[in-house]
Amino acid sequence: MRLDKFLSQSLGITRSQASRLLRGGEVLLNGEPVKQGAIALGESDEVEFAGQSLRLTGPRYFMLHKPEGYVCSNEDPDHPNVFFLLEEPALGKLHCAGRLDLDTTGLVLITDDGQWSHRITSPRHECAKRYRVWLADPVPESAIAQFAEGIQLRSERDLTRPAQLELISDTEALLTIHEGKYHQVKRMFAAIGNKVVKLHREQVGPLALDAALAPGEYRPLTEEEVAAFR
Ligand code: URA
Repeated sequence: MRLDKFLSQSLGITRSQASRLLRGGEVLLNGEPVKQGAIALGESDEVEFAGQSLRLTGPRYFMLHKPEGYVCSNEDPDHPNVFFLLEEPALGKLHCAGRLDLDTTGLVLITDDGQWSHRITSPRHECAKRYRVWLADPVPESAIAQFAEGIQLRSERDLTRPAQLELISDTEALLTIHEGKYHQVKRMFAAIGNKVVKLHREQVGPLALDAALAPGEYRPLTEEEVAAFR
């Protein structure tokens, strides 16, 4: 593989950014600065950047316990994003398989495998997401049937897909939805005249948030957990 392609893949940057690093003399090949991106790398070549030895990483999969106050996109200049919480190389290659709002906590899956995350986010796959919801006002029993039949959200053409609502107390519920419209849970409760005061995602598909993870902590998924979405 060419050196510039290797840099771009291992650091998650574009080829032109890789060329800039090379021109700046910031990349070492077997201990010596190197500027030519076209050099073909051999098996035993050692590439270093910023004091770190680079390797091509395979697909990566993590679960994060998202705390409040972090966004799931790296394009929001006003708030810290969840990638700040990860100590991993090539952060630019990673993305969230489904986003949570700034004030929502709980399970976020992070990967660099676009096909895998598509199974979680694509409406076609109807991947279930379970939320624990705290509400400003008591939720009537009738909401269970309303959510099961589908809710008309403002500015949406279709009803929401059937969702399962379980009442834990007057103002606490578990809600399982099978799609991921923008602010969906908050909008569903708004549509029945209530307000979500706290929202926490407990489960995505077959995967529950690991209780050992404190807010802000993360861990790699096991092979079985990754395969459970295939
Ligand atoms: N629904 C919401 O309203 N917010 C989230 O963060 C996730 C689902």
